[in-house]
Amino acid sequence: MRRLLSVLSLTICSLHAQDDLAARGVRVLEQKCWGCHGPNLAQSGLRLDSREAALKGGARGAALVPGNAAQSRIIQAVRRTGELSMPPGPKLSDAEIAAIESWIAAGAAWPTTAGPASPRFATSGPATARSA
Ligand code: HEC
Repeated sequence: MRRLLSVLSLTICSLHAQDDLAARGVRVLEQKCWGCHGPNLAQSGLRLDSREAALKGGARGAALVPGNAAQSRIIQAVRRTGELSMPPGPKLSDAEIAAIESWIAAGAAWPTTAGPASPRFATSGPATARSA
C-alpha cells in the first residue's frame, strides 16, 4: 500500500512538473504572441492559442514541431535565425525564449490550465494539489 502511494505521488509530481513547463511556455505565447496570433487576429493565418492551431501553422506551414525546438518556426522566429523576427519590436528575453524552447523540446503539451488568469492551484482538485 505504501509503495502504491509513493508511485502515485511520483506520477502526480511528474505530471505537475510537465504542466509547469507547459504553463511557462504557453504563458509567454499568451503574453507576447496572442495579440497578433490569437482569437482576435491571425497574422499570416497563424494562431498560437491552441496546440492544434500551432501544429497547423500559418501560410508558411506548421509553426510547431513537438520535441524539436530547432525545427519549430516559433523558435526560428523568436531567435530570429530565419526570415522572421517575432514578435515585431524588441526581442524576447533569453528566459522567455528558453521557456518556449524547453516546453517544445518536452513535447509541447498544452497546459491543463492555460494562462495567468487561471493559476494552476485555483483549478486543480484538492486531492492532486495537496498529495505531494
Ligand atoms: C504585432 C503583431 C505580432 C506579434 C505580437 C507577433 N507576430 Fe508573428 N507575425 C506577425 C505578422 C504581421 C506576420 C506575417 C509576417 C510575414 O508574413 O512576413 C507574422 C508571422 C509569424 C509567423 C509565420 C506564420 C506563417 O506561417 O507565415 C510565425 C511562426 C510567427 N509570426 C510567430 C510569432 C511568435 C512566436 C510570436 C510571439 C513571440 C509572434 N509571432 C508575435 C505579427 C505579429
